[in-house]
Amino acid sequence: MQEVLKAIRERSSTRGYTQEKLTKEELDAVLTAGLQAPTAANRQEIHFTVLDGGDPILAEIDAALTGGSAKKEHNFYYEAPTVVILSGNESFRWSAVDAGIAVENMALAAEALGLGSLIIGCVRDTLTGERRPHFDAALRLPEGYVFEVAIALGHKAVTKAPHEYSAEKNVTIL
Ligand SMILES: Cc1cc2nc3c(=O)[nH]c(=O)nc-3n(C[C@H](O)[C@H](O)[C@H](O)COP(=O)(O)O)c2cc1C
Repeated sequence: MQEVLKAIRERSSTRGYTQEKLTKEELDAVLTAGLQAPTAANRQEIHFTVLDGGDPILAEIDAALTGGSAKKEHNFYYEAPTVVILSGNESFRWSAVDAGIAVENMALAAEALGLGSLIIGCVRDTLTGERRPHFDAALRLPEGYVFEVAIALGHKAVTKAPHEYSAEKNVTIL
């Protein structure tokens, strides 16, 4: 129990990675955490597409995202060695929530394993825009599925303090 709270407390977004790959055991553990997440009506509809950070489709998505603008210092996944794309059934109303729960499970699992992670939404318009059929096919999304969220995974090359928060602002206890 304390370990879960520790991972929640200490997780923060990692925007810099070493090029050390995840081991098969690490990747399996993070994916399993995603698969073990609860889903509405236990539909277990979230699909996980695992990509090596060097996969050309990621470079293609990054180029589409920046639209040929000046080269940025980092790509959208901060050169992480692994990226997982979560997609959901477009006709199931809870897919976005289910994907969000799954991706946080994965982020916490990564933290517990001493890995860094970054939840990524910035590619959404690119992946669901006019080139969607191309990207859906390249990422081999199941029929009727749509991009929900992604997560970059790897060993931390930078550290960042967890974000500040305010219970006063965000919590109402009646
Ligand atoms: C749904 C979602 C989408 C996000 N998309 C991005 C993204 O595209 N790029 C990025 O650098 N960070 C992204 N983030 C990370 C947030 O910016 C980050 O979680 C927030 O600033 C709080 O910082 P922390 O994660 O370090 O606590 C996303 C987070 C969430 C939950």
